[in-house]
Amino acid sequence: MEFNFNINNLFGNEICLIDKELTPYRTSPLNIREYKAQLCQVLDKMGDASAKAQGLHGAITTAHRLQLTDHHLYMMKDASANGGKGAVVGFIKTGHKRLFIYDHNGVNHEMEPLCTLDFYVHESRQRTGCGRKLFEFMLKAEGVQPYQLAIDRPSHKFLAFLNKHYKLKTAVPQVNNFVVFEHFFRSVSSSV
Ligand code: ACO
Repeated sequence: MEFNFNINNLFGNEICLIDKELTPYRTSPLNIREYKAQLCQVLDKMGDASAKAQGLHGAITTAHRLQLTDHHLYMMKDASANGGKGAVVGFIKTGHKRLFIYDHNGVNHEMEPLCTLDFYVHESRQRTGCGRKLFEFMLKAEGVQPYQLAIDRPSHKFLAFLNKHYKLKTAVPQVNNFVVFEHFFRSVSSSV
């Protein structure tokens, strides 16, 4: 996704972590006001695009909401696109949620796992490996394995992605919108 400002002034690396502080990277040439205004525009536009791609009525990800949570958003850019101004490729957002999750035996556990909350790669870049790169970056940064995540309302594309790259296909049935896969209970400590 292209903007009429330079994306490379917002993100120093190919993939950057953004949290509620919306802190500029160390050598950004923008002042804090310009930085936040442009970053908020990027977050809102990407949040809208993600919602549209998932057929949702409202965006899950907005700059305003991000500032009210402890969620982590990893944004990926292509530095050389748009005549050197850069373009935003996609993002993945994670956060801990207090959930009631059923195990294989139908026992309900109260827990607070790391969840994948929103994941989007721009239409022009889908199926070219960008999603995998973002996802791998997030796994390393958060120190988790794919099977340890709870996924909020995964789309059929995301389910296909998890199956293809991580062989995750057998979900443990839940009554909420979250999906967890087998082995999830091996790794997450329960408060029950
Ligand atoms: N149809 C079916 N499977 C797809 C599709 C599609 N149109 N697009 C991607 N995939 C899956 C397939 O397994 C594909 O492998 P294949 O091409 O060999 O079939 C694999 O993903 C490709 O892997 P990447 O290229 O690394 O993934 P990509 O960059 O496309 O990112 C993502 C995956 C984020 C799901 C992207 O397709 C996307 O943004 N889709 C629209 C929004 C969406 O559905 N987001 C997830 C919502 S759920 C949530 O956020 C918790």
